[in-house]
This record gives sequence, C-alpha cells and structure tokens, in this order.
Amino acid sequence: MRQGSDLLDMNERSLAQQQAVRRATFSPSETKTLRPFSIWEMSQFMFGVPADTLRKKLSETPNLPQGSVEDDGRQRWFSLEEINELRRRLKFKGKRLTPERPPGRAIRIAVSNFKGGVGKSVVAQHMANAAALDGYRVLMIDFDPQATMTHAMGLVEVREETTVWGIMCRDLCREADRIAASYDNPDQCPYPSSDELPADVQSIGAQRFQDFIQPTCWPTIDIIPSCANAAFVEFASAQYRALHKAWSFFGCVARYLDELPDDQYDFIFFDCPPAIGYQSLNAAFAADILYIPSGPGYWEYDSTTSFLGQLGDALEDISSGFQKIAMEAGIALPKRFLDIRILMTRFEANNPLHAAMLEAFRNVFDDDVCDHPIEMTRAVEQSGRFQRSIYEQDYRDMTRETWKRARMSFDQAYDELKATALKSWKANAIVREAKR
Ligand SMILES: Nc1ncnc2c1ncn2[C@@H]1O[C@H](COP(=O)(O)OP(=O)(O)O)[C@@H](O)[C@H]1O
Ligand SMILES: [Mg+2]
Repeated sequence: MRQGSDLLDMNERSLAQQQAVRRATFSPSETKTLRPFSIWEMSQFMFGVPADTLRKKLSETPNLPQGSVEDDGRQRWFSLEEINELRRRLKFKGKRLTPERPPGRAIRIAVSNFKGGVGKSVVAQHMANAAALDGYRVLMIDFDPQATMTHAMGLVEVREETTVWGIMCRDLCREADRIAASYDNPDQCPYPSSDELPADVQSIGAQRFQDFIQPTCWPTIDIIPSCANAAFVEFASAQYRALHKAWSFFGCVARYLDELPDDQYDFIFFDCPPAIGYQSLNAAFAADILYIPSGPGYWEYDSTTSFLGQLGDALEDISSGFQKIAMEAGIALPKRFLDIRILMTRFEANNPLHAAMLEAFRNVFDDDVCDHPIEMTRAVEQSGRFQRSIYEQDYRDMTRETWKRARMSFDQAYDELKATALKSWKANAIVREAKR
C-alpha cells in the first residue's frame, strides 16, 4: 500500500535531482545568466541591416558599445544592454531601431488553455524573450503553481507570499478598507475591514506593491513568480470570499497592474494554469488579449473546445452574478477582450494529420487562428533540457540550421503577436484618451 507520505518521499528525491540538473546547467554559480548575442544575430534577426553595415558603423563611432570578442576571435558579441543602447543611438537610412510603443499602459496578453502540455509555458516564455530582444520592457506573471515559467526564468526559491496569492491577499485587505471607508458610518458597514481579517491574510496583505516583482537574468524582463504552494490559493480564496462577500475576487490582479506606472513596461505576459479557478479568472480579467495555444491532435482540439466553453461560462456567470459588486468596484462587465487568438503549437508541417487539424481549426475559427503555427522542433526540446528558450540557446551548441528554423518559427509567431498587440493597443490608448 502506498500513501501521501510516499508521494512526499518521491517529491523529495525528485527535488534533489532538480538541484543536480540546475548545478549542471547553470554552473558554476547555479544562477541563470543571459548569453551575449553576435553581430550576425543582431543584423539578421534584430536590426535588419547587413552585418558589414553594422560593423562599419561601429568602427566609425568608437564611443558606441563595442561588445566583446569571444574565444573564436571572429565575431563581436553584445549584451542585451549594449544592444538596447545601440537601438537608442543608431539609425539606418533615417530609420530608428527602437520599436513602436503606443501611448498608455502596457498591453497585457494571457496565454491560456486548460489542456496541459499544449505549449502555454513555451509560448509565454518565447514571446516574452522575443519582445525583450525586440527592445521592449517585459513583465511576466506566472499564474501556474507548476511554476514552469518561473523555473525557466531561473528563479528557484520563491515564497508563496510573493506570488499571485500574495497579490490577492493584499487586494482583499485594500478592498476591505476601501469598502469600509465608503460608508459614512463605518460601524454600519456589514463587511470586515482589513484589521478584522485573519492575521495571516493581514501579514501577507501588508506587502508593498514592489515586493511581488522580481528581476531575472534578462535586463528588461521582470517576473511575478509562482511556486507549488501557490496552488493553495484556490482553497484559500474560497475562504476569503466567505469572509468578505463584497470582494470582487476576480479583479485583484487587474487592480494590481493598474497601480503600475504606465511607462514601466511595454508587454505583460501571463502564463496561465490549466484549470478554471481564482488564478485563471484573475488572469482573464486582467488580460487585454487572450492567446490560446492548442496542439494539432484531436484531443487537443477537443479540450480547446471545452476550454472555450468553460471560460465563456465562467465569465458569463460573473457578469450576471456579480454585477453590483463589480460596478461598485469600478469593473466594467461583461469582461471585454481586445482580441482573442488561437495559436497552433507543436505543428509538423509535413504531417498530413496536423495539416488537416489546422485546416479544421481555420474552418471553425476563421481569422481568429494565427497564420503562423509554432513548429514542433528538436531544437526546442534540446534547449528546454538546459532550461533555456531557443533565444537563450547559443546557436553554436547545435546545428545552426536547426536553431535557425526553430527561432524563425517563434519569430514569425511573435511578429504576428506584435501586429495584433499594436493594433489593439492603439485602439486601447484611444479609449483611455476618450475616458479622460
Ligand atoms: N514547439 C515545440 N517543439 C518541441 N517541443 C515543444 C514545443 N512546444 C512545447 N514543447 C514541449 O512540450 C512540453 C509541454 O510544453 P509546455 O509549454 O510546458 O506546455 P503547457 O504549459 O501548456 O503545459 C514541453 O516539454 C515542451 O518542451
Ligand atoms: Mg505550463
């Protein structure tokens, strides 16, 4: 007979193994670092100018960042900080290299599907990396207690207070006080104020705004991480709701992000958990754009269909059941997304079943399906083994063509995502303008 303690024992052994993998991959310091990027990559994938033109410009202007020459002695390699400085200071044929950034706050994109293994975390991670390499400032939020994205970004010791759970506790305390203060006579408020909430909620809730955001090895990517214990937020939140019946529990993360200065980030990516719950609802309510990855198999089609139904139902239920609470909290219902996109992942172009499934998706969802599916590649598997994205992977460690093919698949998906985002973003900025 086996029991819970056996599972804990297996967990213990597995954690020890993880530690060993980390030592082997992130050695010697066991902390993840970001590699430099070559002139070839900058010219081909970032600036879109010939490498020789770039070299010439650099040698003509010695006070520009010059990168450093590695062992092979042939290429110059640049840190992302240097690349971003070059972006700010260089122009080619009168064209600036800084990416377009509409006014207003950052655009928020939730990568969500209740099916596990469809590539949510891989997509969220690669889109965040691609945006950072494109010159944007990025915040990632890990809503999934499996914490794949958190681990992929090199964070290991995460306390549950600093996850979305903590944000929800902090929100409960702040909302409790706001609601209490809205009564002329606070004694007539039927709901508790923060100092009447349980001590643990008060102590987690007392954290400051900036306590949740952590730096990563990417100079322009920050993360609000997750960890296994954050799974308990699903139980705890039910209890919090019982404690405070006027709490708009679905708006915590949106309210939190509204506190950010508009110009602190450009893109915010959410990696969502594979289940309906408090965390996934908060992600949905905070998102401008919903990105739904789906694999090319029948069961993935099946569960994507059911995901659409479940999330749709949940949002409708909130719209009808929480009208008053939401209005009082300034949340507009029904929740509106600026766009919804379906992205096929793990796609093999020469597999007729995959092609047929993509066709079926297009027949059903029309233009909502992204033009460029993400290809299934060995390179992603291989770099994933070292806890790296294809962008983080040094192309000299694999066949350059294999690396390039994988990279181009994500680049195309990113270009499409960026176009979608810019379109919605400009429209969103106009809406905000009109509101003022
Ligand atoms: N384009 C791809 N090519 C190869 N392997 C992939 C690709 N996308 C995802 N995978 C692999 O599939 C598995 C599940 O991906 P993941 O992003 O963790 O899914 P989810 O977050 O939806 O559960 C991972 O092992 C990942 O390496
Ligand atoms: Mg995941």
